[in-house]
Amino acid sequence: MRLTVASDHAAVELRQAVVSHLRAQGHTVEERGPSSGASADYPDLAGAVGCQVASGEVERGVLICGTGIGMSIAANKVPGVRAALVHDLTTASLAAQHNDANVLCLGGRLLASPLALACVDAWLTTPFEARHQRRLDGISAIERQVQRGLDPQVTPTPSSHPA
Ligand code: RB5
Repeated sequence: MRLTVASDHAAVELRQAVVSHLRAQGHTVEERGPSSGASADYPDLAGAVGCQVASGEVERGVLICGTGIGMSIAANKVPGVRAALVHDLTTASLAAQHNDANVLCLGGRLLASPLALACVDAWLTTPFEARHQRRLDGISAIERQVQRGLDPQVTPTPSSHPA
């Protein structure tokens, strides 16, 4: 799989660990972000990687900042990106299974490296369950509505189906 892994200055070591981990598995990995000691702003990295994913240039992205919060907020501004901030194996696998997350966000100051790498693996190996596609279509509908300048509340997605 082709992926980009990026971090700001708060997560350089974890970024390098994730890149090495994925390359050892045979993935083609582009790495973005500062070297140790240099500063970088997470919106720049999240926007660039989000656009790579949304355009199909890479299949998935991993974004790491101090908490993962800034990266996830910024990446989700790119239409087509479904960025999930995860903290454990349960949220990592559900991000794939229920949300088909194409970007994984991690908190470099919150997760020890072994857990972060396990989260990446869980996200990459868990298949999406097609029964959730309707909700993803609802997310895409919001994006189209906003791009047209409409209030998403005008035509809410019906949700009368069981979970
Ligand atoms: C940078 O200091 C920090 O704010 C950033 O890495 C991230 O945690 C933001 O959400």
